[in-house]
Amino acid sequence: MARLSLIALLALALTGVAQGNPSSQQQLSDGRVHIFEGWEYAVCGSENDIVEIKSINISPDPPKPGQNLTVNVVAYAHEVVEEGAYVDVTVKLGLIKLLHKQFDVCEEARKSDVDIQCPVEKGPYNVSQTVALPKEIPPAKFVVEIQGYTVNDEDLVCVNLKVDFMRKMSLNLW
Ligand SMILES: *[C@@H]1O[C@H](CO)[C@@H](O)[C@H](O)[C@H]1NC(C)=O
Ligand SMILES: *[C@@H]1O[C@H](CO)[C@@H](O)[C@H](O)[C@H]1NC(C)=O
Repeated sequence: MARLSLIALLALALTGVAQGNPSSQQQLSDGRVHIFEGWEYAVCGSENDIVEIKSINISPDPPKPGQNLTVNVVAYAHEVVEEGAYVDVTVKLGLIKLLHKQFDVCEEARKSDVDIQCPVEKGPYNVSQTVALPKEIPPAKFVVEIQGYTVNDEDLVCVNLKVDFMRKMSLNLW
């Protein structure tokens, strides 16, 4: 349960910020993996994605079980994100799939305490969301794949995250 709630928290934090994302045949938008102390992310969407992720930061880095985690996302919405946008979230522990779930991003935003609500207007966004990480999170590496789509199944956003809750410090986590 702890692992699932972690996932849900991470997903919620990101969806609350980025509000959706679409598409099937994803291409790396810049091919860059952004590597930090205890985690990394890659924007996997195409240039046509409605939500362009400019940066993601977390604090503290590395994230610590039992503490608050603040996720900051800087993004640009190229189109209005309408009601009905959704994200597919897959969480893996190593190669094991722990969770595959679809979230209604507007609904999740309403249920949680986020600043952005649907419809999300065009323009720049800089959003921070704090979540409490359960202290039962096992010392392991998680992969979180987030793909978002509009209500019309257009690509919204695509982000892959790897988060390392191993206690060791390492420059090359994966
Ligand atoms: C996490 O944040 C909440 C509210 O922002 C605060 O009440 C709580 O003390 C914080 N927990 C930790 C472990 O810092
Ligand atoms: C986003 O907001 C944070 C906190 O308010 C700030 O530190 C950061 O510089 C902002 N980033 C951009 C790109 O505006």
